Amino acid sequence: MISRILWIAGCIASAAASCISQGDQRTINSVFKSGGAGTVVQLCPTAVITITGTIQFTADHQELSTQGYPTDNTRAIIKLNAQGGNASTLISGSYLSGIRLLNIQVDGDRAGNGFLSGGGANIEVGGGGNGLVVSHVASRNPRGWSCLHIIEGGISSNVCTNATVTNNDIGPCGQEGTNAAGQGRWADGISFACTHSLVSGNKITGSTDGGIVIFGAPGTRVTKNTLTSSSTNKGFGAIVHSPNAAFADDASCPYATQLLFNQSPHFSYWKAGLKSPYSLQSGFVQAIQEPYYFICPTGPLPSTQTFGPNGLSMAPGTVAQLHDNILITYQTDNNLVVYNTSSASWIPEWASGHTLPNGASCGRTCDLVFQGDGNLVTYANGKAMWETYTNGKGKKLVFRNRAPWIEVLDASGTVIWSTASA
Ligand SMILES: *[C@@H]1O[C@H](CO)[C@@H](O)[C@H](O)[C@H]1NC(C)=O
Ligand SMILES: *[C@@H]1O[C@H](CO)[C@@H](O)[C@H](O)[C@H]1NC(C)=O
Ligand SMILES: *[C@@H]1O[C@H](CO)[C@@H](O)[C@H](O)[C@H]1NC(C)=O
Repeated sequence: MISRILWIAGCIASAAASCISQGDQRTINSVFKSGGAGTVVQLCPTAVITITGTIQFTADHQELSTQGYPTDNTRAIIKLNAQGGNASTLISGSYLSGIRLLNIQVDGDRAGNGFLSGGGANIEVGGGGNGLVVSHVASRNPRGWSCLHIIEGGISSNVCTNATVTNNDIGPCGQEGTNAAGQGRWADGISFACTHSLVSGNKITGSTDGGIVIFGAPGTRVTKNTLTSSSTNKGFGAIVHSPNAAFADDASCPYATQLLFNQSPHFSYWKAGLKSPYSLQSGFVQAIQEPYYFICPTGPLPSTQTFGPNGLSMAPGTVAQLHDNILITYQTDNNLVVYNTSSASWIPEWASGHTLPNGASCGRTCDLVFQGDGNLVTYANGKAMWETYTNGKGKKLVFRNRAPWIEVLDASGTVIWSTASA
């Protein structure tokens, strides 16, 4: 399983086992750098490695672990001594595949180094890449905003995917309230944005923002984690879905849930019947819905949706649900409307008009059709109400999440109708 074990001077005493028992981040970084892809760096059990800067993964399939893979307190400890400077992230590795962080302890020593507003998480890994594993790792006392951050990477290319974050013991993370400068001192347990991943079997104790904060993370299973509130510091919630993220479209959530998202980035689910939210800080918004209303990302939603002739024929309903809270809907009053749903009162960005008179509703007797002849038409009871007059030329209908919101293109790809000119 381990392709290569690299060792350094000072650990050569035993031929069978080589591990790092002293040094700092430079000791580890030089091994990763010279070893390249697949390099395994093992720390000795019970070693305490004090670092003044970040340990950096540099290539695919590198591993940092404690030799023998213990799961108890004999796991090597990596501890930050920032020496009065701004160092905050202890371990970093982005846009790499197959990185493994196993069976170690990571301590940001907030008490000794001080809280750092704008500081990074103890561990910042993920980004683009496939197959990250963080397992049996303890992470506590970050100077910055999170004990463990799994980064999303790009939205459409270089997406982080297939991370495994299991059996870690996380916390304490952060403190309640703000400092004298009004900066929030709280920190997440696990901040998670990678897609199609697993977050399972983790024990999170004493997080002061969200225990597990899900930044969209479509396709990810979050299951069998144990979250315990701090006995000394209030938190914001147990499992929190933040809308402030690349993948965190809330467009597929029920409208009531969207309103809650919009009220607070710290929207949390608090199941009826649980004891009062004593351990929650003041920014908390209480939801009364069932849990399946709470986690509702489907993204990453597309930025455009395209139809060919005869490709679209529908009764009133959602036409296109696009990234960044753009919803294109064909209403029961025969109006085709582009809404920006990012604020509580949806902003209509464009509308076809030609609604039924006197507030009438046509239900399913209205139709929106991109016809075989390339014309986009609304019909009420079979009567054409509105059209793009692109018959004979239209070959492609595009709904977009930026203006112009709707376009009809001809065979050569030239825009022959758009909401910019309609
Ligand atoms: C730490 O960051 C602050 C704010 O960015 C900066 O003013 C200060 O010079 C930094 N200190 C060190 C030691 O780098
Ligand atoms: C997911 O990641 C694991 C762990 O690195 C790896 O063994 C597996 O092959 C990956 N699966 C896919 C489909 O890439
Ligand atoms: C949607 O509205 C918000 C403000 O409510 C604005 O910041 C955002 O840019 C709008 N989106 C688009 C695509 O115009």
